[in-house]
Amino acid sequence: MAGKQSLKQGEKVLFGIFGAFIVAAIIGYAVLEAVRLTADKPMFEVKTRYEFTEEGRRGSQIFREARCTSCHRAMRNGTNMGLSLDGLGSKRAYDWIYSFLKRPEETYGSATIDHGMPPKEAAYVSAMPDEDLRAIAAFLFGLKAEQGSASSAIPPEGKSQFIDGVLEMVTPENWKDKYQDVREKEDVAE
Ligand code: HEC
Repeated sequence: MAGKQSLKQGEKVLFGIFGAFIVAAIIGYAVLEAVRLTADKPMFEVKTRYEFTEEGRRGSQIFREARCTSCHRAMRNGTNMGLSLDGLGSKRAYDWIYSFLKRPEETYGSATIDHGMPPKEAAYVSAMPDEDLRAIAAFLFGLKAEQGSASSAIPPEGKSQFIDGVLEMVTPENWKDKYQDVREKEDVAE
């Protein structure tokens, strides 16, 4: 029987690299925590919030039970793979949301992927009882986002040199007539 074998050169290198990764991760974590704990502003500001009525609260329960979370995300529930509905109430009116749930295609005004007529996968939504759809609409309308948050329709306040620079660099000339800069829009819902 051979005694204790010493590590081969390749194994030493491999374990060395592995160890270095772990050490780097630990240092990184310690630095991040130190910065986070001593900073006077929260590092990740939460800019989404919710305002629920009694009906909205019921809607939130239906939202979870009716499998909406298999394609959507709201208030940390659901999947990241689909459309996040956080902040929806700052982008859409209650009537729009209700009408979308009831008649997705007409309300969207363009082709839909999952909501709509069978056999689309979310076709069941528009067939749900009307009072459930109203409760869900109340729930979704209660999901608000502050200006500048990624889920808000209103861009951050003030001019950003960075955004202007990127726009200048990447937008084709003819887009300027074709599309409107959201920062200059005035009809976004509060
Ligand atoms: C199979 C996946 C799927 C399921 C399940 C699903 N949705 Fe959707 N939802 C989508 C997709 C995709 C869109 C974008 C419109 C489209 O193409 O159908 C969307 C769009 C929406 C919108 C419009 C958002 C906007 O501002 O454009 C709302 C509101 C919505 N869904 C709510 C719900 C609710 C409430 C449920 C559960 C009762 C639900 N969805 C279940 C896939 C799904």
